[in-house]
Amino acid sequence: MNHPQNSLFPELPIYPRLPPVQFLGNKEGLLNWLFTFIPSSNRSQPLRFLDAFSGSGVVAFEAKRRDFLVTANDLLQCCWHTIHGLVQNSTDILTTEEVALLFSDTVQAGELMQKLFTDKFLKASETKLLDQFRANAELLPPLKRSLALAIMNRALTRKVIMGHFAHLQAINYANQPARIKRNPSIAKPLQDLFLELLPEFNQAVFSNHLSHLTYNHDTLELLTLKASYDIAYFDPPYCLSHGDYQAFYHLLETFSRYWTDKTFIGGTNRYHPPLATGFDKKATVIPALQRLFDLSREIPLWVISYNDRSYPSVTEFEKLLRNTSRQVTVHRFEYLNSRGGKGSVKGSSEILWVAERL
Ligand SMILES: C[S@@+](CC[C@H](N)C(=O)[O-])C[C@H]1O[C@@H](n2cnc3c(N)ncnc32)[C@H](O)[C@@H]1O
Repeated sequence: MNHPQNSLFPELPIYPRLPPVQFLGNKEGLLNWLFTFIPSSNRSQPLRFLDAFSGSGVVAFEAKRRDFLVTANDLLQCCWHTIHGLVQNSTDILTTEEVALLFSDTVQAGELMQKLFTDKFLKASETKLLDQFRANAELLPPLKRSLALAIMNRALTRKVIMGHFAHLQAINYANQPARIKRNPSIAKPLQDLFLELLPEFNQAVFSNHLSHLTYNHDTLELLTLKASYDIAYFDPPYCLSHGDYQAFYHLLETFSRYWTDKTFIGGTNRYHPPLATGFDKKATVIPALQRLFDLSREIPLWVISYNDRSYPSVTEFEKLLRNTSRQVTVHRFEYLNSRGGKGSVKGSSEILWVAERL
């Protein structure tokens, strides 16, 4: 989409904002702070910015708004749809006809969502709608498909209390008037939530005249691909402190991938086995961080988010970083309010490491 120039500063284009996110550990509230540690970019000589663990996509999107040339990546496909649909995508919005197609019942659909999640997280009519929507999404070209799935994933997080799927209170709460009063979206039909979000997402499709790339890989694999970056932003899961993103967002991942090769376990019917990541377990996180630093040795500037309640401890983490022979500075942002999730509670500190190659 084309956007007008800013009338006070004609050289600065006015880029849209990402619709508000709801994702554990997201950095939406820290963006201005975070970008004070990153040099400025411009579109005639853009700096190459890697967001290696993109989550909600809010940092990658902000880098696009600030005229970086962005590469963004996440292990979870449900996260990738947001960066593919709103960072890589500079042109394609969803039209009224395409939205009608997404909610039509002309294509034969599967029953995965109905079988797994009816009466656990959603009513039968809504899991049926999801199966049909997922089949219809295949009729759209890839960028539009990702945009559609990103919006539906966002609608799904608005349906459940706390915005994640590691608990089983969604249906219970959606029937309690007091809860609905506090959070009306838990009782709204999914289709209505999608249609409310649609204009905000369509307006967030914009071009900064650069071609961005997105991936759905383990970061340790991504970094073996031949590519160069000026800046890497690393925001891996906070191990031992809401690090298990696959438990929190399993329903969105099952919806996105429409798994045929998994079993589904536990009260929440989460998929099994999970995708392999070294960053969320005590036994593997230190070697994974060491490998991350080793594979990124050519990238001049690393900016790394961390939290003082995670494993390894801040002191141990600092030791790992100092072993990379970089110039390291550490910065703290103290949470004054609890934002949900153990990693961002009142009194805990968000840590930012800035590590420059000497
Ligand atoms: C702390 S969150 C990132 C939050 C993000 N910066 C934001 O502002 O929304 C960590 C992310 O890392 C992803 N992740 C976990 N292991 C990964 C791996 N091995 N490779 C790539 N992404 C991974 C998770 O799916 C999750 O989205």
